[in-house]
Formats: sequence, C-alpha cells, structure tokens
Amino acid sequence: MKQLYIETYGCQMNFADSEVVASILSDEYRLCQTAQEADVILLNTCSIRENAEQRVLKRLEELRALRKKGKSLKIGLIGCMASRYQDNWVESHLVDFIAGPDSYRFLPEILSDAEAPQIRTELSTDETYSGIIPKRYQTNGISAFVSIMRGCNNFCTYCVVPYTRGRERSRNPEDILQEIRTLSEKGYKEVTLLGQNVNSYLWGGGYGFPQLMADVAKTGHEMRVRFTTSHPKDLSDELLETMAAHPNICKNIHLPAQSGSSEVLRRMNRKYTREDYLERIGSIRRILPEATISTDLISGFCGETPQDHEATLSLMREARFDYAFMFKYSERSGTYAAKHLKDDVPDEVKTARLEEVIALQRELSYESHRRDIGKTFEVLAEGPSKRSDEHFFGRNSQNKVIVFPKEGTQPGQMLNVTVNNCTTATLLGKITR
Ligand code: 5AD
Ligand code: SF4
Repeated sequence: MKQLYIETYGCQMNFADSEVVASILSDEYRLCQTAQEADVILLNTCSIRENAEQRVLKRLEELRALRKKGKSLKIGLIGCMASRYQDNWVESHLVDFIAGPDSYRFLPEILSDAEAPQIRTELSTDETYSGIIPKRYQTNGISAFVSIMRGCNNFCTYCVVPYTRGRERSRNPEDILQEIRTLSEKGYKEVTLLGQNVNSYLWGGGYGFPQLMADVAKTGHEMRVRFTTSHPKDLSDELLETMAAHPNICKNIHLPAQSGSSEVLRRMNRKYTREDYLERIGSIRRILPEATISTDLISGFCGETPQDHEATLSLMREARFDYAFMFKYSERSGTYAAKHLKDDVPDEVKTARLEEVIALQRELSYESHRRDIGKTFEVLAEGPSKRSDEHFFGRNSQNKVIVFPKEGTQPGQMLNVTVNNCTTATLLGKITR
C-alpha cells in the first residue's frame, strides 16, 4: 500500500475533514507519521487570517526539498486555501494538485488518473460526504469530533469562510446518530458536534439543533456531549433548556462576540447589538447558572475607535468570559470588508489593543478559576499532563482543564476532582473518592 501523510492546520472542522479524507483514500493508502516516508502529502489548510496562509506557504517551500529524483511524491493542497489558490500553483510545481473542501471524493481519481483535472474547487450545495465513516486516526480513543453541518451563510464582513466552504448544509440526523452509536460502542467518552453555526442546524423543515442535541444526548447517554460554534443571533432559550435537561450535555457555551461596540458589530454584519449579546448572556446565566462562557474577539476592525475598543473591554467585564480566543483583524481579499471598508487601524494600534484585551482576559480567567477553588467536579481524564509523569490532565463539564495526581487511575475514567489551586490557564486538584 502507498503511504499518505496529512498535515492539518486551522479549526476543528479541518481536523474532522482530515479523517474523512483518510477514509476516502483508505483503500489504497496507509497513513504514515512523517512527510519523509510519504508517497502523497496533503496539507489541509486554513485561510482565516493571513498568518495561517503564510505558515502553509512556508511549509510548502520546505516540502520542495523532499521531491527527490526518481521518487514520485505528490503534494496536494486541500482545505480553505484550496478555494483561494493562486493560478500558477500547479504549473509552478508548488503543489501537484488542489482539492477544495467539497471535492475530497475526487481525490482517488485525482491521484490515480493522469487525465483527471488536478484542480477541483467547486463548492456544493448538498451534503457532500454522506455515508463516509471518518477514519479516526488523530484520536486518543476518548473524545471525537462529529461534524453536523458544513459551510456558513452569515457573511460576516471580515470572514472568508462563506467563500472557502460555501453554503450552509446540515447532515442527516440519522447519519449523525449512527456515528454517535458507533463511537459509544467503541468506548468513546466524549463527542463534540461541529459546525460554523450549529444553532442554524435544520433538517426536514422542523428538526432543529435543540432536537438534535436532545437525541444525541439520549443516544450517547454514556458519553459527554459538547458543541461548537454558536452564533449569538441564533442561540435560543430552547437550546439552553435542552442543555439544562440533559446532565451529559456539557455546560460550556462558546459564543463569539467579536466586538462590544454595536457600531462595529453593524459593520461586521453580525446582526446583533451589544445589548442583544448581553441579553443572551443573561439567559445563559439564568437557565444554566453553572455554565462557562467563552468567546472570540477581534481587535482593530475597520473604523474601530478608542471608544469602540473600550466598549469591547467593558463587554468582557460584563459578560465575565471564562476564556477567550483573541485576534488582530486581518484583512482577507474577497470579503465585503476588503472590498468596501478601510483597514484603517494602524498595526501598532491593533497590537496595543489586542494586548489590552489579552491582559484583561487573563485577569477574568484567573478570577473565574479562583471561584472554582474548593469545588468538586466530574473530570474526564484525558492523558498525561505536561507538568509531570505523575499527573493527568482532564476537563470538567465547563471545559476547564484540570491537572491532578494520577493515583492509579487511567485515561478515559470519569473522576471526582476537588480544586485546590489554580493558574490563569489551569485548575489544579486532587481526586476525591
Ligand atoms: N481577522 C481576524 N480574525 C478573524 N476571525 C475570522 N475572520 C477573521 C479575520 N479576518 C476570527 C473570528 C472568528 C474566529 C474563528 O476567527 O473571531 O470567530
Ligand atoms: Fe465566518 Fe461569521 Fe460564518 Fe463564523 S458566522 S464562519 S465568523 S461568516
């Protein structure tokens, strides 16, 4: 069998897709651990910010060195950058072929048929990968990702995803539930349902995300269930109530705010105001008092004033985010913002604002962790901690990482751990029996 090496960049969706790709190619290719051994190298890429694309271009330059004479190595570009490739990448042998996120079914043909087109980037409007069972090669056998929808229809003005991944499509719930059953039978302990905007999951007119979550929680009742990402405009009380009703649905909501200024949110086409966002936070606190809330924030979007930046800082304090992913705005060609708005916040100002946002979040995360000292949580042990061989790390329902002495336990076990200390990034605890 020939050897396949896949390198994945970017979001969890890409990691899930790499397992679909491995499955599609599994008749002829065996996965290998290094690029050096491979007959085919695939880079599953991300376009969300410029530095993500820069990293991949640098890696492609490095990989050129592997093209030894006589060895028929093929290098392919897949994922979001495939949808945005530049015309001469195949001709100039930077890559041998290009397959966009909806074209992975063509990979066997691209690889075996010299006559087949080497560039396939068309986007689909149907569920592209129904019937494919992902080859779970990246897993620890404890937690797995299950994608429930593809694409995005929101067209936030800064974002390339609607262009690289195309229109929103939901997967058939029967397929999703079958995948959940299989994972449960194989002994998995946790699944994370993935979509760019899971709250707009819809099947057959009336079966939405709250129904799917309830069915997944019942079908996988021996597992924990997580999901990401929610769009604030579509996060319903019905979903929060479904989360409250099922103990195995984890109590963490990732709710990207992006900005605390209604004016910036309008220019971002987020379709909610600061007040709408805080109203959703209020609902979460009311219906799920034990839940943690995490977010994504962008500093230095087009036209962001010092007051807008202050509004983001004050939103962070009001929402009391438990953790956050924070970015500097990066203009992406082809988006509405690139075409119609001026990227007018100087880079030093973006950096300074981002640093303030990060510093504030560090304080908020630390306070959030301090509030947990003395509490006991159910923790799913995932593996050895970086700190020492004697410790495991795991997560609680709230998605906080907890490090604790192993004391003869095994990864995959659900343990009661009492928190006795913390850092800004992790909780430290001890198993209580
Ligand atoms: N620049 C900076 N951050 C971005 N994101 C999406 N597009 C951009 C961009 N052009 C961030 C958003 C989104 C997360 C996945 O990436 O915060 O929620
Ligand atoms: Fe991008 Fe907005 Fe869609 Fe998220 S919701 S993928 S930020 S367009």
